[in-house]
Order: sequence, then structure tokens, then C-alpha cells
Amino acid sequence: MKICSGRKYHEATKHSWLSVRQNPNRLDWDNQPRSMKVYPPSFPRIKLQKGFTAHNFIYHIGGITAKKSYPGVEYYLRTNPSAGALYPNEVYFQSRGVEGFVDGIYHFEVASSSVTLLHELEEKEGLEPLVGFAERMKGLLFFISSPYYRSAWKYRQRAFRYCLLDTGHILGAIEAGSYIYGHAYRVVYGADLEGLNRFFGFSEEEFFLSTAVVAVPQKGGEVSLPATTLKQSDPAGVFMSVPSIEEAYRETVKPKECKKEPRFPHFTLNKKVWEEAILKRRSIRSFSKRSITKMEFDSLVERVNLPVPSDCDEPLRLYAVVNRVEGLRSGIYRNGELVKEGDFAQKAGYLCLEQSLGSESAATFFILSDGCNYRPLYQKAGIWGHRLYLMAQYLNLGCSGIGAYYDDETREFLGDKGMVLYALAVGR
Ligand SMILES: Cc1cc2nc3c(=O)[nH]c(=O)nc-3n(C[C@H](O)[C@H](O)[C@H](O)COP(=O)(O)O)c2cc1C
Repeated sequence: MKICSGRKYHEATKHSWLSVRQNPNRLDWDNQPRSMKVYPPSFPRIKLQKGFTAHNFIYHIGGITAKKSYPGVEYYLRTNPSAGALYPNEVYFQSRGVEGFVDGIYHFEVASSSVTLLHELEEKEGLEPLVGFAERMKGLLFFISSPYYRSAWKYRQRAFRYCLLDTGHILGAIEAGSYIYGHAYRVVYGADLEGLNRFFGFSEEEFFLSTAVVAVPQKGGEVSLPATTLKQSDPAGVFMSVPSIEEAYRETVKPKECKKEPRFPHFTLNKKVWEEAILKRRSIRSFSKRSITKMEFDSLVERVNLPVPSDCDEPLRLYAVVNRVEGLRSGIYRNGELVKEGDFAQKAGYLCLEQSLGSESAATFFILSDGCNYRPLYQKAGIWGHRLYLMAQYLNLGCSGIGAYYDDETREFLGDKGMVLYALAVGR
């Protein structure tokens, strides 16, 4: 029998009408973790500059694009959305032969829009062996980690789901930026993440969740791991271990019996408008209840369904509760096909923990899967979510991710026994 990872964790972290009332979240504001990691000033830094294509590319993957001020607090918003704006991820990369960077291993310091050089590479050194490459790779290798307590501080056990979705959004940002940068990308889920954790000096407070490759092999370029390891720097200021999350990580860290997706997503978009969409993307906070057109709806669904190149592709299903789409009957659609006609707007809002975003949208999407590799399938849901956000922005529509929904009631409503991974609302 096939053994599927993450099932126990997923089951234990479902929301229901009762569970959210029985376990209301009380937040310890005096002990909120920091959402930005900064290495000590002794490390050299390179300020990201507009003149270098590769610098722009890095900035597109999580750079700060807006500031919100409330009495006594300031929030910095980024190119990527994040559940509760807690940003439980850090981006590291290896650069080899890329203009604007000396060959080395870097941390993207979001706070200062710069990168910190953690280790300069000797010619035959590199992290390639940990990603599964026997030769040197020219270009950029990305490593996405999660200091998970940033999210667990608020969402407790359910936070691992958000860490995975947010990682997927960062992978989606890499995909979106690589289109402008002009290089193919692919996700590698089968990298030796535990080896990477050791190399970066992490203990349980931060762990790697994904890697992505925007690089090509250098023929005959032997490579071996640097002889040293790196020194960890406190990623969040506050940490409290959540054993169920650490167990879910250990259980999902090594994918099994994976199916490769070799195809790249080919799309033709206006690059200037696309870049504006990347930089302007925000989560819509309320809808005007005006309709979108069938053409807009079709573009969203088409975009989501493009292949995600990776070494471990799991099938996902995209449902849409269509509330206000001109030229389309209201009802439940599965991968673009009507499966049940009716006005389910109120129901969709109720399922999203009574958030009006779900009922006032033009369409509320739900992503489900019964795949076996929990970490890859959840990140793919985040990539799909990022595609929806950016395509909506490109079409001048609004979008919001919705990580809070009644799991079992959503499955029953959709008539699908899979795991509900993510919801997103799109409209005007
Ligand atoms: C995984 C995920 C889950 C989210 N869940 C909700 C939600 O349930 N309700 C909501 O209003 N916004 C939700 N959001 C939107 C975030 O609140 C938003 O991304 C964050 O405040 C940052 O703002 P920005 O997206 O405008 O940059 C979610 C975003 C993500 C990525």
C-alpha cells in the first residue's frame, strides 16, 4: 500500500465551526517574533540596484513594495502575500557566473533590500551536490527556508500549512520573475533539505522547505561542498517549539515515488504590464460585487492550469464557486467545467470562516488534492495561488488568499474527498 505523508497532520489541523469557537486564538503581543532575518553587520552586503537584471529578479522575490502605518505599528508589505502578513520564510541563493554578484552563497535581506554574502565560493565549491547535481551550475540556485514560529505564534499547529503555502507563493514569485529575467526555472523538492539545514547551521527554529533552479550545467565542472559550514543567526527573536509541526516536517522532508513534470509553462504576456503586476500586487480587502467577464475567468483558470516544472508533481483540482461572471451560469465549476448549478455565494462565504471575501467575489476558488507527497502538493497549491493573484492583477482584478476555511464542510459541499489546501477569492 502507498504510504502518504502529512495526512495525520492535515487531519489534526482542520478547522470546523466548533473548533474555531472552542479554541479561539489569543495572541501574545509582547512576544511576537520578528518577520525579517538580519545577519550580523560583519558580513559583507550588496545593495540591490535597478541596473542589474539579476538584482531586479531577487527584488521581485519578496522585496518590500508598500508600507502600512497604524498607531504605534508599521507593516511592510512585499511582492509575495503571506497569511497574516507574518512572512514565515527566508530566501537564500547561490550565484555562479551571474553579473552583479561575486560567486557565493547569499541571504536576501528584505529589510534593507540587499543581499548578505554568507560564503564566497572557491571555483570548485558549491551547494550543487545537496540539490542533486554532480556538476557546477551556472546561474542561481534558490533555497527557501521557514522560521516557522513566526506563523505558529498566531496560527499554532495549522501554521505548517501556511508556511508551505507561503513557500509556494515565493516559488510563484520566482516563476513570475524568471519570465521577465528570461530564464527557465524549475522546482526541486527532492534536494537534501536536512543537509542544507546542517550546512546553514540551523537547528529546529528554521528549516528548509524548498529549492528552485534558474541555472544551467557547466560541462565538466566538478563540484564539491564547501569544507566549512555557516553560522546561524537568530531568524525571529522568539521561538517556541511546536512538536506537531516538527514531526510533520520530518515526515514530509523526503518525497517518495515522485512523478516528474518536465514541461515548462509557456505563456505570452506583455512583460511590462506583467512586471507592474508583480510590483503592484496586493490582497483585495473587499469587493464591489461587480461581475467579471467569462474571458477574464477563463484566463485565470488557464493560467493556473499551466504545468509547474518540478521533480515531484502532484495532481491538484481547482474548483470555482462562480458568483458573478458575465456569460457563465452561477454554480460550482471543476477545472473550468460546471458540475452543479446554483447561487452558492453565501455558502462560499460561510465556508471561508464567514469571511465576506468568499461571498462577494466574482469567483471563490478552492484547491484540493489527494496526492501523497504533502510538502510538494501544498507548495504547488501556493504556486497556483500566486498565479491567480498575479493574473488577477494583470487583468486589473483583485484577489485574496484565504487560508481559513471549514475543511470538512468544504469537502462535503464540493463533493470531493480530497484534502482542501487553499481558497482564493477573485473579483472587482
Ligand atoms: C496563505 C495565505 C492565506 C491567507 N488567508 C487570508 C484570510 O483567510 N483572510 C484574509 O482576509 N486574507 C488572507 N490572506 C491575505 C493576507 O492577509 C495578505 O497577504 C497579507 O496581509 C499581506 O498583504 P498583501 O497581500 O496585500 O501584500 C492570506 C494570504 C495568504 C498567502
